[in-house]
Amino acid sequence: MPLPRPLGSRAARAALVVAGTALLTRRALRRRIGASPLWPLPALEEPVSGQPRTRALRLLVTRHERVADGVVQLRLEGDPSVPLPAWEPGAHLDLVLPSGLVRQYSLCGDPGDSSSYTVATRLVGPGEGGRGGSREVHEALAEGVEIEVRGPRNRFPLIGGAASYTFVAGGIGITPVLAMVRAVDAAGADWRLLYCGRSRAAMPFLEDVEKLGGAAGRVRVVAEDESGRPDVAAFLGAGEEAGEEAAAPAGAVYVCGPEGLMDAVAGALPAGCSLHLERFAPAASAGGDSAFEVELRRSGRTVAVDAGTTVLAAVRAELPGLAYSCEQGFCGTCQHRVLEGEIDHRDELLTDGERADSMLICVSRSLGPRLVLDL
Ligand code: FES
Repeated sequence: MPLPRPLGSRAARAALVVAGTALLTRRALRRRIGASPLWPLPALEEPVSGQPRTRALRLLVTRHERVADGVVQLRLEGDPSVPLPAWEPGAHLDLVLPSGLVRQYSLCGDPGDSSSYTVATRLVGPGEGGRGGSREVHEALAEGVEIEVRGPRNRFPLIGGAASYTFVAGGIGITPVLAMVRAVDAAGADWRLLYCGRSRAAMPFLEDVEKLGGAAGRVRVVAEDESGRPDVAAFLGAGEEAGEEAAAPAGAVYVCGPEGLMDAVAGALPAGCSLHLERFAPAASAGGDSAFEVELRRSGRTVAVDAGTTVLAAVRAELPGLAYSCEQGFCGTCQHRVLEGEIDHRDELLTDGERADSMLICVSRSLGPRLVLDL
């Protein structure tokens, strides 16, 4: 019987040559793809806002408690030997939920506590536009669960040196305001708070703010089931029947709550006061949405954006790998350079400089019939 031919070393050499050639080809291809102006990678690998998106921490939920009807408060802690990044009143955290959804929640604990963060979340059902994030916080973030957290970041900072501070909070909008009120109270500044909600039972931290207001009468609570809607103009001192002291000129007015409350405060703002808003959702356009088209210059494609869809959704139909996160104009992940067209900015994250040539495609739209993106 003939012995097998001694092919081992020859076959091994041939296999090595094939593998080496494939490796070199892959590397060359990757270099060519990376250099190609047509390759549809996101235009900006780093955020042009300069705000870090990648500072991520793994934190443990060490407390999950109900603090009002439909509201839970979470305490998040990391390695006790490593202080958590510092934050200032108005700052928020990005929580990366177990499903991958990313949601922003204002920090409402003590900024001096470097061992834990505290956030609170109201359950928002689908009927109110909820998309599952708050339900996940309520149901999946039990004590002992570890999650990824990014931030803190602050796009609602408390300015110093105002003649007075007037705060208006609606429902869960009290979360950033609570830390602000504590800070101005500790600093001995002149401040007032209008806190409104559907009912006292649905208003988190009510006892805390009433205690802070104390005998000085700095806090006015309006529960709609008891006394109807708040008279914001009267509170701000801009109404004809204002029975309360007006906000001082050069005072700062801070509002966090539903869109209607923001509009009421903006419409009754006393002259000389500065207005500072924290929105729950992106601002709507006064003109409504209209359809337009978007050219993806580097990809050589054009997509139609209907009135009822976002640029992000339309672009992702062509470029499914395109990065995004909050879909609310808060995180900056979907910021892309605009080469041509008039942008209808609907976020409050970008600076004026960034707005000149880039947009957040999850919320912003086009004022004209066509936009050209560097994608
Ligand atoms: S996805 Fe977060 S800003 Fe657009």
